[in-house]
Order: sequence, then structure tokens, then C-alpha cells
Amino acid sequence: MGMSVTISAATDVDAEQILKLQYLCYQSEAALYGDYGIEPLTQTLDDLCAELARGCVLVARLGEEVVGSVRGSVEEDGTAVIGKLIVHPRMQRHGLGRRLLSAIEARLAQERSAKRYRLSVGHRSEGTIRLHRSLGYTPVATEPVSPRLSMVTLEKYPAPLGREAVRQEYAASA
Ligand SMILES: CC(C)(COP(=O)(O)OP(=O)(O)OC[C@H]1O[C@@H](n2cnc3c(N)ncnc32)[C@H](O)[C@@H]1OP(=O)(O)O)[C@@H](O)C(=O)NCCC(=O)NCCS
Repeated sequence: MGMSVTISAATDVDAEQILKLQYLCYQSEAALYGDYGIEPLTQTLDDLCAELARGCVLVARLGEEVVGSVRGSVEEDGTAVIGKLIVHPRMQRHGLGRRLLSAIEARLAQERSAKRYRLSVGHRSEGTIRLHRSLGYTPVATEPVSPRLSMVTLEKYPAPLGREAVRQEYAASA
């Protein structure tokens, strides 16, 4: 019987494996933009450990091996900022990225009262943008970071309080 992938909260012990996986996964993004200085490739272990201490970090494990991860935190206004969704290249295109994203959304809502979700993706990362769209995210802004790279911000308002409902709520209380 094959092993199944489990998703759980990361601990300090996972930091090194997460960082290695992050370096591996973002190689394709760096090649796409011709820029190997992007933040996921330059982040230090200390910085990741600080993120682990203050944010919510999930890992997907196959046995002892970390094969995926995602992280997020919630701002004071209830906006969850999600980032570093990564899946080992050999495990991609089997739905694990989707599972990780759904898992972090649920956790940020339950544990940190997230009311909406936000994430940013490079403008040429069409596959990733498609993945987020299929999970209910909508592009809300595009911001140039360098001549070669713009970041697209996508947001999702979980049902039943979708954007329209929020608008109606404001209208009703005005
Ligand atoms: C983004 C990433 C985590 C997706 O992981 P994954 O496990 O392959 O995602 P899933 O299998 O759940 O993908 C579901 C859908 O997303 C889309 N998709 C995801 N990655 C894609 C790619 N590289 N090319 C084309 N479509 C892609 C497809 O629509 C796919 O559905 P399909 O296979 O039925 O066509 C993975 O490609 C990765 O680690 N990328 C490098 C790091 C990165 O760019 N992270 C995103 C920053 S927020």
C-alpha cells in the first residue's frame, strides 16, 4: 500500500526542510522571470524561523519527508495574507497545492478569525493564477516590482459573506 500525504502544523524542526523545498520549488519561478534574487530564494533560516514563531505554517508530509508547505498570517482587519505555497516538483499536478491552500484557509478562519484571504503571484505564473481562480480568488491589483516582474494580488471572500454581501451589508447599515 502506498503512503498517503498528511497535512499538519509545522514546527521548528521542519524549518530546514521547508527552506530547502522552497529553494527547489521557486527555481522555476526564478527561471520564468530571469531573476534568481527573488525573496523566496534569498530568505534565511533565521527569517523563516521567525515566521514559524509568529505565523501559521503548514507542511504536507510523505512519511518523514516534507513535500509541500504554505504559510499565512492575519492582519488586524481580518485579512489573511497567504504565501509560499509550494509542492515538490515530483508531486505537482496531483491536487496537493489545492489541498494545502484549502487547509490554510480553514485554519486561519478557525484559529485567527480570518474574514478574507489575499495572496500575490507573479504576473506570468499562469498555472498558479488558474489554481487560485479555481478556488475562488479574483485578481484585484497588479503592481510592478521590477522591469521583468509584476505581482498580481488576488482576494477571496468566503461564502456567505462574498463581496456582494459585504457591499449589501454596508449599504444596509449606511
Ligand atoms: C503552485 C504549486 C504549489 C501548485 O501545486 P500543485 O500541487 O501542482 O497544485 P495542484 O495539483 O493542486 O493544481 C491544481 C490546478 O492548478 C493549476 N496549476 C498549478 N500549477 C500549474 C502549473 N505549473 N502549470 C499549469 N497549471 C498549474 C492547474 O489548473 C491544476 O489543475 P489541473 O492539474 O487539473 O490542470 C506548485 O506548482 C509550486 O510549488 N510552484 C512553485 C512555487 C510557486 O510559484 N508558488 C505559488 C506562490 S503563491
